[in-house]
Amino acid sequence: VNPTHDRSDGHNAAGPGYAGNARVPAAEPPIAVRWADDGTGVDIIDQTLLPEFERRVSLRNADDVVEAIRSLRVRGAPAIGIAAAMGLAVEMGRHVADRPATFTERLRRTTALLRAARPTATNLAWAVTRTAGVVSAVPDQAEAVRAMHEEATRILLEDRQMCRMIGENGLLLMPDNASLLTHCNAGALATGGIGTALAPVYLAAAAGRSVHVYASETRPLLQGSRLTAWELERAGIDVTLIADSVAAVLMAQGRIDLVIVGADRIAANGDVANKIGTYGLAVLASHHGVPFYVAAPTSTIDRATATGADIPIEVRDADEVRRGFGRLTAPANVAVFTPAFDVTPSALVTAIVTDRGILRPPYGPAIAALASVV
Ligand code: MRU
Repeated sequence: VNPTHDRSDGHNAAGPGYAGNARVPAAEPPIAVRWADDGTGVDIIDQTLLPEFERRVSLRNADDVVEAIRSLRVRGAPAIGIAAAMGLAVEMGRHVADRPATFTERLRRTTALLRAARPTATNLAWAVTRTAGVVSAVPDQAEAVRAMHEEATRILLEDRQMCRMIGENGLLLMPDNASLLTHCNAGALATGGIGTALAPVYLAAAAGRSVHVYASETRPLLQGSRLTAWELERAGIDVTLIADSVAAVLMAQGRIDLVIVGADRIAANGDVANKIGTYGLAVLASHHGVPFYVAAPTSTIDRATATGADIPIEVRDADEVRRGFGRLTAPANVAVFTPAFDVTPSALVTAIVTDRGILRPPYGPAIAALASVV
């Protein structure tokens, strides 16, 4: 038994039944983020080490959490929101005995620090703000820390439930024997549950339906090959890895029934920020008449951002391209343009699969209507 994903404390990401029609012994989807056993830390799988090593690390303060988010030890929009919410509670727990003014100032600074760890995924700021927001309603600091712990746990559990609902809604769009293409990792490793884009895949496999996933490698940091291929293979789900440049050929040959990806932020008009390369896949899908679906929880929809042009796009260190994984793969000082995300215009999105249902164009009214039932 692998202790890293066999817990009986209710922290299993998916619950039983995800074995699928496996070729290899299947495992439950991995748990990207959970409380450390003593409750005073944030326990993550260090995703920079996958697939070579599956190692959990315990983050003990807000600086640890910020470092883990920036370095992509924990990554994926929902997962970084959950980790940061927990990190805020953990940090404030270390300062519970501070004078009230000091405690309040630390809360303000830590909230700002965590919110700014990465700019694009809206879930990050959303989860931190929500967790900090419970403090004003409680009488003392110990109570405030307890309330933040509870709120962070609620965010985790809600995300797990949202993943399942996205899975059930997404399943309605999947033909029998579906062959689909996904990009980056929007699976269990990116969320508190069974993922967003991969949620319908897990549910299809659990229902004994056959499903085949093409995972694009996702240059430059290889979330597709290191993470998506890893988590699907260990779940016993059919997965074929492709270099990013292979997608066009597969579509031209009619081998892709649908594309499904996650999102880091969805603007009020339905424009979608997601991992760099997503936009290109959407253009390809449109050209080949392949449906292009985005799967995301409602916590990824940012109604305060009017259009994709207003979404801040993270630009990462040039050495992630020049020296990928420690080896010089370009002239050492060559100029590099390295945005981590791109924006897919809503016109290229066939549907947005959320926990509250499937949104269809025009997305402005669909998203506004979703908000009105919150
Ligand atoms: O840079 P990353 O690995 O955090 O990028 C992640 C993605 O782009 C995912 O597709 C997105 O966060 C959705 S995860 C459910």
